[in-house]
Amino acid sequence: MTADPVLRAVGLTRVHGHGDNAITAVDGVDLDIPTGQMLAVTGPSGCGKSTLLRLLGGLDRPDEGEVWLGGRRIDLLGERALARLRRRTVGFVHQDFQLMDELTAAENVELPALLAGDAPRTARGRAAALLDRVGMADRDRHLPSELSGGQRQRVAIARALVNTPLVVFADEPTGNLDTAATHDILRLFADLRAAGQTLVLVTHDERVAATADRVVSLRDGVSAGDTPLVVGGSRLGGLLGWER
Ligand SMILES: Nc1ncnc2c1ncn2[C@@H]1O[C@H](COP(=O)(O)OP(=O)(O)OP(=O)(O)O)[C@@H](O)[C@H]1O
Ligand SMILES: [Mg+2]
Repeated sequence: MTADPVLRAVGLTRVHGHGDNAITAVDGVDLDIPTGQMLAVTGPSGCGKSTLLRLLGGLDRPDEGEVWLGGRRIDLLGERALARLRRRTVGFVHQDFQLMDELTAAENVELPALLAGDAPRTARGRAAALLDRVGMADRDRHLPSELSGGQRQRVAIARALVNTPLVVFADEPTGNLDTAATHDILRLFADLRAAGQTLVLVTHDERVAATADRVVSLRDGVSAGDTPLVVGGSRLGGLLGWER
């Protein structure tokens, strides 16, 4: 067991809206995620998965509670400091991708590297390697509007990886993929995990959750289960016949 978690949430609470319309999307969640863990967050639609992921990745701020990333408390940082920290330590795959429409696939992947200060050549090289890795090398000059949902998702995954973040967050990363493409992405995540990458995935797909080290299930913003998927050193995902 790792003593210091790379990611820690303490009493995390987030209320959307006001007054009669207020919804407590995340309600007092405590979570410790050790370095190198692949965690899946599951639960029915509207239970707070995306809200929790955004809080953990520093894209949104809690109304109560704390978020610690890489040993630093991040929920109290100012906007600029938080943006700078996110750029280097967080890779985020949004549920709706959020690619830049006017940039090509390659430019979308390069952008965070350029913003983080990489030389254009370095950024270009990293983007090309990652697009190749997600099977999109032949689509690098395409605009997002010229790509299928699954292809856009793969570009979004490549973009999330470009700055070798401390933690990769992915909201339904296989939501738009067919079975073959899902296998490819799961294999990519398995490679990342083998290389020590910490991953937090939100997924509806039990087959994806079964490849994780641990599954946290949310119900109405509350953690309703926290299950390690390692049995006697061998992984339950493997037992279920899902290759990692
Ligand atoms: N910006 C917002 N303003 C108001 N309510 C919101 C906002 N974002 C989310 N909510 C509400 O908070 C609750 C949790 O939403 P969230 O998007 O976190 O759920 P989810 O588990 O990711 O759902 P899904 O599986 O459909 O993506 C829902 O009731 C949702 O309607
Ligand atoms: Mg969601």
